[in-house]
Amino acid sequence: MAKLNFGGVEENVVTREEFPLAKAQDVLKNEIVAVIGYGVQGPGQALNQRENGINVIVGQRKNSKSWDKAVRDGFIPGVSLFEIEEALQKGTIICYLLSDAAQIKLWPTVEKYLSPGKALYFSHGFGITFNHQTGIVPPKDVDVFLVAPKGSGTSLRRMFLQGRGLNSSYAIFQDATGRAFERVVSLGIAIGSGYLFETNFKKEVYSDLTGERGTLMGAIQGIFAAQYEVLRSKGHTPSEAFNETVEELTQSLMPLVAENGMDWMYANCSTTAQRGALDWWKRFRDVTLPVFNELYDSVAAGKESQRSIDSNSQPDYREKLEEELQELRESEMWQAGKTVRDLRPENQPKTVATPATPTASSTKEMFRKQTLKNAPAE
Ligand SMILES: NC(=O)c1ccc[n+]([C@@H]2O[C@H](COP(=O)([O-])OP(=O)(O)OC[C@H]3O[C@@H](n4cnc5c(N)ncnc54)[C@H](OP(=O)(O)O)[C@@H]3O)[C@@H](O)[C@H]2O)c1
Repeated sequence: MAKLNFGGVEENVVTREEFPLAKAQDVLKNEIVAVIGYGVQGPGQALNQRENGINVIVGQRKNSKSWDKAVRDGFIPGVSLFEIEEALQKGTIICYLLSDAAQIKLWPTVEKYLSPGKALYFSHGFGITFNHQTGIVPPKDVDVFLVAPKGSGTSLRRMFLQGRGLNSSYAIFQDATGRAFERVVSLGIAIGSGYLFETNFKKEVYSDLTGERGTLMGAIQGIFAAQYEVLRSKGHTPSEAFNETVEELTQSLMPLVAENGMDWMYANCSTTAQRGALDWWKRFRDVTLPVFNELYDSVAAGKESQRSIDSNSQPDYREKLEEELQELRESEMWQAGKTVRDLRPENQPKTVATPATPTASSTKEMFRKQTLKNAPAE
């Protein structure tokens, strides 16, 4: 394990240099890794492990799109793809990758198959940390640990295919075999993590729930909506308001932040922009700080987990979420965003034609084609 300096604070980190894939393969050579659930994380983690030479099987309920997807991805029914109970029985490491609400429902079944020496693996600290709400209390004679990729299962897979790696955290809740560390780190490397940083279950879930409600998803939509509303109320057009609120950020500025940090992005903007940003960022920090404190306290008090369990356990939870997503999708800001995205040169149809003045009907046809092209795959 390496100790690295993060802004003056030393932390334990596991990199691929000190824990190469060959070592992970050796540690896992006698294990059957059963990935339970083939939703978003399941495919990314199962496919990456399979291609990294790990003996992986999938447990997924039948008569479901996820089962069909596993078949399309090359998992063979009866060989490497099973109903959940059969996979639980075969696996020596159980990767519990059902949705957090389904994990609660299926727990009595999972518990039956956790014989001594097996390992129970999560990608979230939710079930264990909030066990007074979830009822997930593993037996003492199994290893319990997590690897939490810091991003979607889709990104985990894409980055793996590009030869890159998503960062993950890892944590050990219970070390029954004395091998929990080598098992969890091997799994972390095998699923395609770039590097692994150490945490515990509680910190993982508190930071994760805060982050997604905060800057990663909730806060960012809130601040976009507020600025857009101000610009629109002062007479700016939707395209101007959207460009100044979202498009410039995602297309031009955030890639610079990702490459080299906020100071570097600032330094690559006009001095007028720098002056204004440096004058205003602390005011935004100060007004949002109490909201972030309230959010963290709500997470720590178990209110956010309870809300998530209550709403996502309803039989019609997907339809309900879809209704709220539709409200966002149909808002003027995100409708304007759709037109702005369609106008990006890379989204224009690639036709080699003699330049001609577009007619109203040809423009309409162009947008019809783009709408079809941009429709979700399934
Ligand atoms: N999504 C992410 O980007 C991400 C990132 C980091 C960590 N995580 C963590 O990874 C874990 C898995 O998350 P996920 O997003 O991959 O979950 P998800 O896509 O919501 O997973 C759905 C899986 O659960 C199954 N499922 C749902 N209800 C079920 C039920 N009642 N009985 C049996 N199976 C049921 C689904 O099968 P059907 O398709 O048949 O319904 C599918 O296989 C969670 O702990 C999550 O917090 C997720």
